[in-house]
Amino acid sequence: MTKQLTIALSKGRIFEETLPLLSAAGIEAAENPEESRKLIIGTNHDNIRLVIVRATDVPTYVQYGAADFGIAGKDVLIEHGGDGLYQPLDLKIAKCRMMVAVRKGFDYAAAVKPGSRLRVASKYPNIAAEHFASKGVHIDLIKLYGSMELAPLVGLSDAIVDLVSTGNTLKANNLEAVEHIADISSRLVVNKAALKLKYDTIQPIIDVFAEATAQSAS
Ligand code: ATP
Ligand code: PRP
Repeated sequence: MTKQLTIALSKGRIFEETLPLLSAAGIEAAENPEESRKLIIGTNHDNIRLVIVRATDVPTYVQYGAADFGIAGKDVLIEHGGDGLYQPLDLKIAKCRMMVAVRKGFDYAAAVKPGSRLRVASKYPNIAAEHFASKGVHIDLIKLYGSMELAPLVGLSDAIVDLVSTGNTLKANNLEAVEHIADISSRLVVNKAALKLKYDTIQPIIDVFAEATAQSAS
């Protein structure tokens, strides 16, 4: 009997950038999640389905085996911790950088002298805490869920830790990036038990993704 396979994806850029990889593996989504309210989307294979979850929830679905594998940003994976997840492949999609940014004109160098104290707003409390701890800077962390760029403009924080791609959002809000924390791209995350139990179904897909990723990089 063919084993059922569940793939966790988030709407938006990850879904869009994953479609060509799925296509290379002969998997076509039956519907576009942007146009449908369905959270479980079928494919052209009776045994393969897509579940549409928040980007930050992909590791959780895979960790608990509710999805066999999924695609998640490195930012989300660092923040989550990656417990129980096998991460065989950097898919080199949804590329951006994790940065520290401040209001233009803010004296960041003076603000991050060892022993100083800084108010930092971020959706990534673990990444922010670790970054500033490594510099010996104490921070008061303000957890946000989006629109981080607003925080320094209204006096909620001195700095933000957020993703930067084109730099347009920073520019539009009179902010500047002052430190690079990590390069980010999306990874394939696989449930370790599922890989063992469904090896014959999952491994060929990983192989095709690896080949398609290598080709698009060359
Ligand atoms: P959530 O719904 O959980 O709040 P989100 O809104 O951050 O998540 P997306 O904006 O779709 O979800 O981002 C998904 C992933 O894409 C992020 O985890 C990150 O790895 C990457 N990403 C985020 N912003 C950018 C960007 N501007 N350019 C390229 N990649 C990005
Ligand atoms: C991400 C990130 C920045 C923006 C950076 O937001 O949180 O705000 O992209 O991209 P840029 O450097 O190209 O301007 P996103 O577009 O995902 O919006 P959201 O966080 O509201 O989902």
